[in-house]
Amino acid sequence: MAASIRSSCSRGFSVYWTFFFSGSKCRIPVVDVRESAWSAVSWRRYKSGSEERSTHFGFETVSEEEKAERVYQVFESVAQKYDVMNDAMSLGVHRLWKDALLHVMNPSPGTRLLDTAGGTGDISFRFLEYVRSQEARRAWRAAPSHQTPSWQQISASYQTGRLGTGDGALAVVCDINKQMLKVGRQRAVDLGFSTGLSWVVGNAEELPFDDDSFDIYSIAFGIRNVTHIEQALQEAHRVLKPGGRFLCLEFSRVSNPLLSRLYDTYSFQLIPVLGEVIAGDWKSYQYLVESIRRFPDQEEFKALIEDAGFYKVQFHNLTGGVVAIHSGFKL
Ligand SMILES: C[S@@+](CC[C@H](N)C(=O)[O-])C[C@H]1O[C@@H](n2cnc3c(N)ncnc32)[C@H](O)[C@@H]1O
Repeated sequence: MAASIRSSCSRGFSVYWTFFFSGSKCRIPVVDVRESAWSAVSWRRYKSGSEERSTHFGFETVSEEEKAERVYQVFESVAQKYDVMNDAMSLGVHRLWKDALLHVMNPSPGTRLLDTAGGTGDISFRFLEYVRSQEARRAWRAAPSHQTPSWQQISASYQTGRLGTGDGALAVVCDINKQMLKVGRQRAVDLGFSTGLSWVVGNAEELPFDDDSFDIYSIAFGIRNVTHIEQALQEAHRVLKPGGRFLCLEFSRVSNPLLSRLYDTYSFQLIPVLGEVIAGDWKSYQYLVESIRRFPDQEEFKALIEDAGFYKVQFHNLTGGVVAIHSGFKL
């Protein structure tokens, strides 16, 4: 007696016991999974090897595939107004949070940064400015008797590429959304960033970079939009050099009940309205508010970072926990 599997039609499979009785071949179906038992959708999923799983898009439960598509649409839709909306929604405070991230990062000349989910480039621009100002300060300290350099000295240092270049510092802005990167590139031109910056389309869950490539991995207001957070964290770990640092700036949990109530009222009642008035897009900003509530709190996220293999993981709350900076090291 033998068992055989037969894919007898395009949508299913059957398992038969085959045996010979009185010289004739008999076949008894043991399992017959065909159209009757499986829908066409189940079969497609079986063939592609992945049972479709559900996740959250804000407060809605959607398939993982749908979440990725809808997140893409959100940022495609808001890209042109993204920076104006950030200022309007946070009353400019997002600038201070981003400055705080750079303060914690404290990069030095020569650092290679991967700014994941980097969008329109805010973190990378700050990074380059920070590194260049560090370098200028060092050059000034090294100058004889701290004299202000002459015009000839300044011009000579630019010609030799020694001043204002960040001394080899590089920021790679990587984002899944081409539209966000397009706006970012234009901003870079407008702000006069011509060196030390590159723009790459890529998914945080499957980064298009070699292992051990970067000194710092940053992700600002990006990770809660990623479908598989654990996978993105593992990718962060993979692309960092040993000794490299992971830094994440993300909305988090407010612990003070009064502040929490105020914050909830402000974000649920006002942010979608601002989104509609400024960007003509209520739904995207409603998603933004809901996705913040869905994201793990400070301690839960810290545990996820540790699970990905990072050491010395810690976080700092900003604005009472509205936002937190998480940091960890790859050893
Ligand atoms: C709220 S914006 C943050 C942009 C920028 N980091 C900042 O702080 O202004 C979130 C960004 O995450 C990007 N994003 C979402 N899912 C992503 C993924 N799986 N991989 C890479 N980027 C992603 C979006 O395209 C968007 O540009």
